Amino acid sequence: MKKHIAALFLAILPALTFAAGPSVSLDKVQIDLTDKAAMQDGLKTFANYCMGCHGAEYQRYERVANDLGIPEEVMMENIVFTDARIGDHMRSAIRPDEAKNWFGVAPPDLTMVARVRGNDWLYSYMRSFYEDPSRPYGVNNTVFPNVGMPHVLAPLQGRQVYGCKQVQVVEGGRRQFDPLTGTPITEEACDQLVVVPGTGQMSEAEYDETIKNLVTFLAYSANPVKLESQRIGTYVLLFLAVLFVFAYLLKREYWKDIH
Ligand code: HEC
Repeated sequence: MKKHIAALFLAILPALTFAAGPSVSLDKVQIDLTDKAAMQDGLKTFANYCMGCHGAEYQRYERVANDLGIPEEVMMENIVFTDARIGDHMRSAIRPDEAKNWFGVAPPDLTMVARVRGNDWLYSYMRSFYEDPSRPYGVNNTVFPNVGMPHVLAPLQGRQVYGCKQVQVVEGGRRQFDPLTGTPITEEACDQLVVVPGTGQMSEAEYDETIKNLVTFLAYSANPVKLESQRIGTYVLLFLAVLFVFAYLLKREYWKDIH
């Protein structure tokens, strides 16, 4: 019996350690898997800033080009930076064992990361790096404490630090608005992540949009058949609609003499 209890404990240990982690509230993101422009932009960011370390090995360039409506030459010129060919898998530029030497941990493949971590987690993670001189790369992350990844998008976002800023007042889970003007009611809150003005190439809104598009691409990547099944679903519904008309006419024909 004791053995069983010990075995059971070992079995649920991973779940316990997971649950014990500090819970941070994630920012929500609404993505649209039919928005090809968003996915193209996300792919561009992914190729430019992530594929040096991460791959999306279960994806082929060709499939992505077709799904996102990108002509092959454009794909080869703008997205494929290694000597890969259009039919190849999207491998990272760095070998996993080399990467492990450099970073201590191998950067994981990101094909499925949107399914494993969730869209909100990814969206929050990429916006939650902050300066922390005690860390090897000088940055830490509120969503992934002590992460082994540098803030590769810092040139776009700028330097993010803890500070004070105006935030919208929330009462009983609801954002508060001024009843007369309809403008948000704000108050100063400290212990917030704030971007030091003028340190990034993008405004906060532009950076959020870039990350949203990146998440849209990763969500597509984790489930490329979804686009296909949406298209097929439309055909199936059309087919059923047409079938219904014929079935109805046939029924009328059969029952015509019986009434
Ligand atoms: C310089 C190398 C490098 C670059 C470039 C890089 N990463 Fe990472 N990334 C890492 C490493 C190393 C880890 C593992 C961190 C750890 O486990 O502590 C990681 C982890 C992650 C994780 C967490 C995965 C998980 O589930 O644990 C995500 C998500 C991620 N990276 C996304 C990105 C995105 C998106 C980009 C491009 C904008 C990017 N990374 C660029 C090195 C890199």
